[in-house]
Amino acid sequence: MTPEEKNIFPVFHEILSREEKENLLKQRARVIWLTGLSSSGKTTIARHLEEELFSRGFLTQILDGDNVRTGINKNLGFSAEDRFENIRRIAEISKLFLQCGIITINCFISPTEEIREMARHIIGEGDFFEIYINAPLNICEGRDVKGLYCRARRGEIKEFTGVTAPFEVPETCDLEIRTDLMTVKESVQKVLNFMLPLIEVK
Ligand code: ADX
Repeated sequence: MTPEEKNIFPVFHEILSREEKENLLKQRARVIWLTGLSSSGKTTIARHLEEELFSRGFLTQILDGDNVRTGINKNLGFSAEDRFENIRRIAEISKLFLQCGIITINCFISPTEEIREMARHIIGEGDFFEIYINAPLNICEGRDVKGLYCRARRGEIKEFTGVTAPFEVPETCDLEIRTDLMTVKESVQKVLNFMLPLIEVK
C-alpha cells in the first residue's frame, strides 16, 4: 500500500534541510554502527569516542541496546524476530538524528548479516558505517562485565548471543577493532582516524 492509500501524507520538503542543520552544527551527520558480542567493548569505545568527538566540537548521541531496551523497545525480547524489530526501530531513530545533523554512535550486538543489511538499507549506504568490535568469545566470556555469560551457561538466559543464539561475523564491515589486542585508547584512536574525515566540514 502506498502512503496515500493509507491516508498518510508525509512532509519531507518545506522543512529545514539536513544540510542546513549540519551547517549550523559545522559537522556532517553519520551513523557509527558498532556491532559485536556482549562484553566485546562496544559501549566502552562509544563512551570514549563520544568524549573525544565532543572535545573537538561535534554533537553526538549514543544509542545503546541496554538503554533503548528500557524505553522505546521495552516490549521487545531476544528472539530473532524481536532483535530484527529492535534494530529496525533503531535504524529509523538514527535516520531522524541524521536529518537533525547529529552523529549517532550505535552500540547493538546486531548479530546477523540480515539485520545489519536492513539497518544499512534504512539509513543509507553513504551514512552508515559498520564497525566490528571484535574480541573472541572466550575473551568476552572471561570479561563477562554483566555476569550474563555465566547465567547463560547455567541455562538461566535463553537465546544468549554467542552461547545459544548466533553471532555472524561481519563480512563487509568498514572497520574492525580487535579489543583483545588493543587498548581502549588505541581502539578509539583507530575509530577517530577513520571517522573524522567523514564528519568534518571541508
Ligand atoms: S540485539 O541482538 O538486538 O542487537 P541489543 O544490543 O539490543 O541486542 O541488546 C544486547 C544487550 O542485552 C546485551 O549487552 C545484554 O546486556 C542484554 N541481553 C539480555 N539478554 C540477552 C540475550 N539473550 N542475548 C544477548 N544479549 C542479551
